[in-house]
Amino acid sequence: MCCLTAREAALIVEIRRQTRYIRTREGPVKRKIIVDTDPGIDDALALALLVKSPEVTVHAVTAASGNLPAEECLKNIHRIYGFLRIEEKPLIGMGPDWPRSGEDARHIHGKDGLANTYLPVFLRNAAQPAAKLIASILTGSAEPVTILALAPLTNIADALDRIDFHTAKVERIVLMGGAFHVPGNASPLGEFNIHHDPEAARRVINSPLPVTIVPLDITTRLVFTVRDFDAFAKCRRGAGRLARNLLPFYLQAHRRYHRLDGVHLHDVIAAAVVAAGDLFKTRRVWCDVETEGEITRGTTVADDRPFTPREPNVEVVSSFDEKALKNFILSRLATD
Ligand code: BDR
Ligand code: CA
Repeated sequence: MCCLTAREAALIVEIRRQTRYIRTREGPVKRKIIVDTDPGIDDALALALLVKSPEVTVHAVTAASGNLPAEECLKNIHRIYGFLRIEEKPLIGMGPDWPRSGEDARHIHGKDGLANTYLPVFLRNAAQPAAKLIASILTGSAEPVTILALAPLTNIADALDRIDFHTAKVERIVLMGGAFHVPGNASPLGEFNIHHDPEAARRVINSPLPVTIVPLDITTRLVFTVRDFDAFAKCRRGAGRLARNLLPFYLQAHRRYHRLDGVHLHDVIAAAVVAAGDLFKTRRVWCDVETEGEITRGTTVADDRPFTPREPNVEVVSSFDEKALKNFILSRLATD
């Protein structure tokens, strides 16, 4: 890079950082990730996409309360790994049950959280307390770790309380949550993951770590219809079969509760931000979470005024290549 200006060199470094592989002299290195999740149909497909993605290594999976109590989400993590017949055994964690709102989302995801399929539970590693596990990984890792948060942020906020921000190895936190300029899905303005534990969301968003938000504004822009589900028609096992089993129920729920003839795969899109970051654009903005409002508790607020005195504290995904993203998701999931 000897003939480049400092600005050009910095740009190249940033572009490399955003590419799917971190290159070393020995070759491509997989991005190490922790997934905090509350499966949930879109969580299940996000996990399936990640374990099928050579760009990442799922080092740990932790269960949070959200769509269901954490204990049931933990069961579903085991169910998903068992169904996918994944050899690798990630570290497993579980957070506290029902920290705040007490509302679940069984009407969207099924009584068991996985479309009433009641898949067999294949126990893998025993679960450790989630916040402690996440903190110990961030503290002890040799390389930077990406946290992908697909659930209310209870476990992540508790983990951040246990680490030293100067020495912890955090590449960034990518979180699915928030609704800025679209209606909420848990209250008029509140998105489910933020609405469920607004205090935790506030602590994470205001932490000094790099945070990338994947809000409903983005995840509701991509609609998967029954025609897209054809991609899974021939899949007899694995991720494609899981999608075939889960999506019809999810579609019914979207028809009933969102009046939509298709589905939004919120958490899958957040997973794609980690596995295929080059498909997305982001903007830097100041953002916070309302924790007081009688009607607006649990809503996210972004200061989008052109002349705001506030310094940006997060990156928000602002656009993506729709065709490329849909192809990426369908091709990653349509496998045996
Ligand atoms: C989020 O809420 C949950 O029901 C989904 O799994 C997703 O994480 C979307 O608002
Ligand atoms: Ca989720």
